Amino acid sequence: MNVTRVHDESYVTLATNENYALGALTLGQSLRNTNTNRRLTVLITTEVPQLLVDQLKSVYDFVELVDVLDSQDSANLALLKRPELGVTFTKLHCWRLTQYRKCVFLDSDCLVLHNVDDLFNSEEFSAVSDIGWPDCFNSGVFVFRPSLDTYSRLLDFAVSQGSFDGGDQGLLNAFYPNWNRLSFVYNMTTNASYSYAPAYKQFKNTVKIVHFIGAQKPWYHTYNLDTQNVIGNVTVHEGDLINQWWRVFTQWVLPHLNNETKNRMRVQLVSRTPLVEQQQSQLVQQQEQQGFHQEQPQEQVYATGKVVGGVEIGSDVHKQKWEHGQIEYTGRDAFANIQAHLDAQIKK
Ligand code: UDP
Ligand code: GLC
Ligand code: MN
Repeated sequence: MNVTRVHDESYVTLATNENYALGALTLGQSLRNTNTNRRLTVLITTEVPQLLVDQLKSVYDFVELVDVLDSQDSANLALLKRPELGVTFTKLHCWRLTQYRKCVFLDSDCLVLHNVDDLFNSEEFSAVSDIGWPDCFNSGVFVFRPSLDTYSRLLDFAVSQGSFDGGDQGLLNAFYPNWNRLSFVYNMTTNASYSYAPAYKQFKNTVKIVHFIGAQKPWYHTYNLDTQNVIGNVTVHEGDLINQWWRVFTQWVLPHLNNETKNRMRVQLVSRTPLVEQQQSQLVQQQEQQGFHQEQPQEQVYATGKVVGGVEIGSDVHKQKWEHGQIEYTGRDAFANIQAHLDAQIKK
């Protein structure tokens, strides 16, 4: 098939760390699978490991290193229950991509199921309603025009007004009150599948972009390679969508990862617990080689509800830290602690 390439329009995503880079790789591949004729661009920061940067270069036409912008607005982010999202201000760099006439931004936790090049027929600023507050748009998918002038006005606005949710979505909604509404099929947030199940059943075959909003990203789930099913606490519909993400990931992304990342994901494919055990024993081995391994002090072994290092074990904050890779292998999250927690849960 002869596809005419359009060089001055691009899809754009953002990945500031390894986990979101895995999302960006899967998203980029899902876009490639739709035979798009637009460019693919990913914004990254220095925290993304070099080997993943190299892999991103094989999927994306353009990999742009940017500085982290952070709202540092912990009060509003606490309202959103997502303390980690201040860094989403980094998205604003997308307005600096002035080599393009028009772009479509996609969060790296999106998966494209069908060709969406028709999005480039829309104008700045076009987006899809947020299902939490449909008068606002969700900033996981939007059409925009890169412009240094807009970029600097957005930064001024951020400094003078802040963001009502602490992230880019609050800021952009205040900055673009007269946005153009796109069909929900361009940003079907996964929670819609259970909050309005009959509509999901009716329209699911028309969905073009799935957006895995919330802290539980597809890459944190456990996936069984044999049954090709996600394991754990998800609704049937959500499970189907997460399985679709994993199918793209296992077919196109996983085989090309370096061994370290591959092992990390491969173990998760079977079960979460062996991952903890494996990482714990690797760490102990490394520390023993370097001569500084110490047994954990007994008082750190916890039962549910105990506070270690200012964070209550099993609390939302603890879960979020764990899910975002902030794991204290030699402290709170030492294997002995995990084991004690499991024992306590079983006894309950
Ligand atoms: N993001 C990132 N690093 C982070 C947090 C967010 O690169 O630590 C980027 C990534 O592209 C992500 C987007 O910002 O998809 C928005 O964050 P997220 O998708 O977690 O928000 P949600 O859609 O769940 O509200
Ligand atoms: C959201 C959007 C996401 C945005 C975040 C912070 O729910 O899905 O794209 O980064 O809020 O504002
Ligand atoms: Mn998102």
